[in-house]
Amino acid sequence: MNPRRIPLIAGNWKMHHGGASGLDLALEVAKLSRELRGVEVVVAPPFTVLAAVAQSLEELAEQRGLLVGVAGQNMHFEEKGAFTGEVSAPMLVDAGCRWVILGHSERRQLFGETDELVARKTKAALEHKLHPIVCVGETLEERTAGKTLEVVLRQVRAAMPALISARGAAVIAYEPVWAIGTGKVATPADAQEVHAAIRAELLKEGGDAIATPTRILYGGSVKPDNARALLAQTDIDGALVGGASLDVAQFGGILQAAAALVGGAA
Ligand code: 13P
Repeated sequence: MNPRRIPLIAGNWKMHHGGASGLDLALEVAKLSRELRGVEVVVAPPFTVLAAVAQSLEELAEQRGLLVGVAGQNMHFEEKGAFTGEVSAPMLVDAGCRWVILGHSERRQLFGETDELVARKTKAALEHKLHPIVCVGETLEERTAGKTLEVVLRQVRAAMPALISARGAAVIAYEPVWAIGTGKVATPADAQEVHAAIRAELLKEGGDAIATPTRILYGGSVKPDNARALLAQTDIDGALVGGASLDVAQFGGILQAAAALVGGAA
């Protein structure tokens, strides 16, 4: 972490909690966040419960000043049209989102999303004032072949024009594919090396005005017991959490770890 960037902890619920249980989980997360200072919190529920979650968090925020942002897990780059099954940036905004996760490795691997598509989506998100969380990361095969930085920087470069235009409002999430949902976490030093390389690329292409404010999250088997060591790294500005974000106690442990590092723990 770096005092010039507010840590961000985002929970990617994937295809879980699309109904009433999602509302309950979001409210529990909001209660936890109220206890902490200095950490930004985002939840990314499935589309079916997005509007309801955003609305109840907003009502709670009005009453008690809670700060939990809501993210879509994906979106189309067009505003509207004949794209069966898709959701657009204005629709996410309408549902109460301020954030959107783009180019998650599951989208890239299972749904064929390319670097170019992710770049188009990133640009569209920013045009609609959504903060994109652009995911990048190498497969185990690519890591074993020594291609980690080549792959990750290629993915970052594809979105670079949009990242530069965002002037720090966009977020990058480094999620090594082999660490997602496997319990195998990158070592803090390995993760830091990739994060530093991403920041160096931002500096080279966009200068300090982009490299300093842009937050780079780590994702892949983040749990309460490994969060602190990862988040303590200079260029790790938060976490994109999958499995552990489905459990209030575990997500709370990660939030506490982040808050403790910035002196804002309960
Ligand atoms: P896990 O935390 O379950 O490994 O998932 C990480 C992830 O894919 C977040 O987007």
